[in-house]
Amino acid sequence: MTEMINRDSGIDDVSFDQLKQLVGLVDYDPSRDPFPVRAMDAVVFVVGNATQTALFYQFAFGMEQVGYSGPETGNRDHKAFVLKSGSARFVIKGAVDPKSPLLDHHRAHGDGVVDLALEVADVDKCIEHARSQGATVLEEPHDVSDEHGTVRVAAIAAYGQTRHTLVDRSRYQGVYLPGYVAKKGSYVRPEGAPKRLFQAVDHCVGNVELGQMDYWVQFYNRVMGFVNMAEFVGDDIATEYSALMSKVVANGNHRVKFPLNEPAVSKRKSQIDEYLEFYGGPGCQHIALATNDILMTVDQMRAAGVEFLDTPDSYYDDPELRARIGEVRAPIEELKKRGILVDRDEDGYLLQIFTKPIGDRPTVFYELIERHGSLGFGKGNFKALFEAIEREQERRGNL
Ligand SMILES: [Fe+2]
Repeated sequence: MTEMINRDSGIDDVSFDQLKQLVGLVDYDPSRDPFPVRAMDAVVFVVGNATQTALFYQFAFGMEQVGYSGPETGNRDHKAFVLKSGSARFVIKGAVDPKSPLLDHHRAHGDGVVDLALEVADVDKCIEHARSQGATVLEEPHDVSDEHGTVRVAAIAAYGQTRHTLVDRSRYQGVYLPGYVAKKGSYVRPEGAPKRLFQAVDHCVGNVELGQMDYWVQFYNRVMGFVNMAEFVGDDIATEYSALMSKVVANGNHRVKFPLNEPAVSKRKSQIDEYLEFYGGPGCQHIALATNDILMTVDQMRAAGVEFLDTPDSYYDDPELRARIGEVRAPIEELKKRGILVDRDEDGYLLQIFTKPIGDRPTVFYELIERHGSLGFGKGNFKALFEAIEREQERRGNL
């Protein structure tokens, strides 16, 4: 049964074993789970210009457009583009109708994540449990059908204006959801370009207000049956360098991982405070994309114009780092050239790097992560990383 759930979980031309290596799955028994989640179903964005943003994810992130909804398909309110890379699915929405409610969201938050949609086997069971635990049900369970079958969906409220739509797509063969048609983008990847730049979503981080982190950790525990992951980062990262606290929750098989950050008081303005100010409240801060070749991914993205945080040379020249990380699959010089960070724990190591914010506001950004056994989040890199983030904050006049 455990295997079934795992092997079945939203995996699209990425094998179970690959996925296990990429995002660090664990065995678990879904029959004891009050809210069994199979996988991320989609990360849904509202942006100011979905037409252009969808193009950005194709040429800069190597994603493939597979679906579309818009005026031509009977959706007069907005355009929506469905993009895939391995098992990861993004949906990018932008208003067409000047009265679209998406514009209210965009006015308040700028480009951002509205929905971290989850694939579940039993929508009704999950909603019943969530309701009994006091969750706000935004959409009651209901069927949506077209000629490709039926999906059962519902939605619950998460932090800020973020929601979790629950999707049971076991009776559906269409490209995404009813209302969407299969449609490729006009962008053609250059001859010889890698097939894809990442294979899965590793984790999605939420920023919440001061004092709210534990509330949301308990929300995911109680309402959604998520477990606390081994890595609890607490006081050790609330230093004068960057003031934040972070805890991580995950679904039973660790396919879905949600770190939660809150600002902490320090000498300088927390990067979380900057986010909360410019996002207009809590929201999704970064999405980590799992790649099996981070050097290639960084090279490709950089060539397409994606900007990454700089890592100081001192990070690589520090003898403590070399002692701490030991042998990794690429020479340190190659990592240094690209600004890729390394962290090691008792299970293995990981390579990671962070982009600068990808929109106009200093809010949403991306992480690339290549795991080699480590189930962590790069705790050993926080200090180096925060110093880099703070240099950027200072340039924006927000420190
Ligand atoms: Fe992360």
